[in-house]
Amino acid sequence: MKLFHAWLALSVAVVLAAGPARALELSIVSGDTGNGLKVLREILDRYEKESGDTVTIVAMPSSGTDQFGQYRLWLAAGNSDVDVYQTDVIWAPQLASQFVDLTQATRDVVAKHFPSIIQSQTVDGRLVALPIFTDAPALYYRKDLLDKYGAKVPATWKELGDTARLVMDKERASGNRDIWGFVFQGNAYEGLTCDAFEWVVSNGGGHIVEPDGAISINNPQAAAALDMAKAWIGTIAPPGVLAYQEEEARGVWQTGNAVFMRNWPYAYALGNSQGSPIKGKFDVAPLPAGTGEGARPAATLGGWNLAVSKYSKHPDAAIELVKFIASPAMQKYRTLKTANLPTIQALYDDADIARQQPIIPHWKEVFLNAGPRPSAVTRNKYNEASSQFWNAVHKTLSGEGSAADNLADLEATLTRLKGKGW
Ligand code: GLC
Repeated sequence: MKLFHAWLALSVAVVLAAGPARALELSIVSGDTGNGLKVLREILDRYEKESGDTVTIVAMPSSGTDQFGQYRLWLAAGNSDVDVYQTDVIWAPQLASQFVDLTQATRDVVAKHFPSIIQSQTVDGRLVALPIFTDAPALYYRKDLLDKYGAKVPATWKELGDTARLVMDKERASGNRDIWGFVFQGNAYEGLTCDAFEWVVSNGGGHIVEPDGAISINNPQAAAALDMAKAWIGTIAPPGVLAYQEEEARGVWQTGNAVFMRNWPYAYALGNSQGSPIKGKFDVAPLPAGTGEGARPAATLGGWNLAVSKYSKHPDAAIELVKFIASPAMQKYRTLKTANLPTIQALYDDADIARQQPIIPHWKEVFLNAGPRPSAVTRNKYNEASSQFWNAVHKTLSGEGSAADNLADLEATLTRLKGKGW
């Protein structure tokens, strides 16, 4: 018996000296597109090795709009099966109360990120999510085709329309039957809000709702921007663009069937990947400007973050996981593999990134000049305001009502929404 006690004491001592073997099971939801999920898995594999925990990815549909709807349901139900949510830059004000405040836990790392991004994830003094990458769109263009016809990279949407038409017509006449001039995100979802926001802002048509709360969308320059886009459908853009999200646009582009594409940086890495038919044949430029008064190039600020659910059973481990994925080393890894724009300032001067993803340091200016959608001002009503906007745009592009009429209706709807308090 004595021997048994001695053995037991020794065993306990050995276990304690080795530290508790931590083997928690965590889960993260993500709707990443392109090769994003694969890269997330690789990062999680490393985390599992270091922590001893297991992390499961719950893969979501790639539409942020669909993700948002699902997350809201889970959070409202107090779902404790999800520890970490991958969140769009615009969601912070709407979901803030359901997420853990990360302010204390990230004191040692927040200063490494761009302050404006940290600010975008701070609601009433609480840091509700830690950024893992930022997003700013580009105009992708086929260098080889523009050179072939002596065309310049367009600086205005009007030039884009003209050049797209010219190159498309000539290519089709010479037997390239499937080519289109321009693809973008025309489906009725958050992606259309991003694209149309750019058309409107770049044409001097304001920001839908201004930072002071004024509803500005019902104006002639905004209507002119939508009329311009309507004229693209079925001429330079395929009729099917009305159902395209990011991945459908990239599909057409990457098979070589578009002269121009509006998309986020992730399409750059994939377009240049092994086996891509357009590898080495394209480049990127800032999106064009409009032509009205106050016209200028405009880009919508995007980006993704990680938030810890208030209902997680392991909030401390979940915070550790979030910090790991958002860390400089893991952001660097992600950038090298996906061309996602880092939120860590120093990575824009990183020699490996400059060599392997030369677009990144060039893209810093575009992202620093990208404009936020009106999510801070519309707060808990952003999703509804945005869906009213994308529906008005989608109707216009589909030929249901004029831009002017649809924007007048939108103004009335937004005014009602504001009246209910946002
Ligand atoms: C990108 C952006 C995100 C935006 C979405 C729209 O994922 O990063 O901010 O809402 O596209 O589809």
